[in-house]
Amino acid sequence: MRFEDRRALVTGAAGGIGAATARRLAAEGAQVAVTDLELDGVESVAAEISGFACVIDVTDDESVAAGVSASESEIGPIDILINNAGYGADFFFTRTDAAVWDRQIAVNLRGTLAVTHAVLGGMQERGFGVIVNVASEAGRMGSPGTPVYSAAKAGVIGFTKAIARESARYGVRCNAVAPGPIETAMLLGAEALGDVGRRMIEGMVSRTAMKRMGQPEEVAAVIAFLASDDASFVTGEALGVSGGMGTI
Ligand code: NAI
Repeated sequence: MRFEDRRALVTGAAGGIGAATARRLAAEGAQVAVTDLELDGVESVAAEISGFACVIDVTDDESVAAGVSASESEIGPIDILINNAGYGADFFFTRTDAAVWDRQIAVNLRGTLAVTHAVLGGMQERGFGVIVNVASEAGRMGSPGTPVYSAAKAGVIGFTKAIARESARYGVRCNAVAPGPIETAMLLGAEALGDVGRRMIEGMVSRTAMKRMGQPEEVAAVIAFLASDDASFVTGEALGVSGGMGTI
């Protein structure tokens, strides 16, 4: 029970990696605020784990402020923040436009800044906090077909390192995970592109050493490690959860 007496907030937690993480943290004793775009989406996950269901659209500063405040009133000050909300769409760069750039950067990068900004001051005042950002191997390797997403996730990794260095003196650690291909709605959404999408997924899988997709629970386990006191001397890292993608 590594998270007994700890309060966690997970963004984008209606499904996929976020829901698996909310379940894992709760299974180890945390009180969890389960947040996503729609209340319907988070209510069933929250009910399963006796968590608090709450709407947070990470691109909307008012929604972030209201959601963090409601979560802290309900479960108490947030000790663990998991910035998991993400949005990926597959386009070759010449086929993108400014609306695509803005949306991808708004959810993946600006959203991470906004939610961190809403909780970090409190963590620093209390002298304790842990943040885990869900980046991507795309942010380190650059993924063909997702250049804007890759740029946003690289930004998340840079932000993670800077927050780690700024906040260590206040007892706050900040790390990232960099997943490879994980079998969730986001990745399988590429199949909507037909053969090109299937080839993109196959290409990602072939770049792993283990030649398979990961499961959301395998990412959740690493997020839980980084969020726990087992990682008490780990900060500013981006840990690959990608079946050895970084070794190829
Ligand atoms: P998912 O699509 O199941 O989950 C993403 C969640 O984010 C959804 O529930 C969605 O409603 C939520 N979301 C989207 N926009 C939001 C917003 N503005 N505010 C709040 N929530 C919002 O996909 P998955 O795979 O579980 O994604 C979780 C994280 O993992 C994302 O950050 C993604 O970029 C990252 N990731 C996923 C990989 C994969 O292969 N599935 C690989 C590398 C990183």
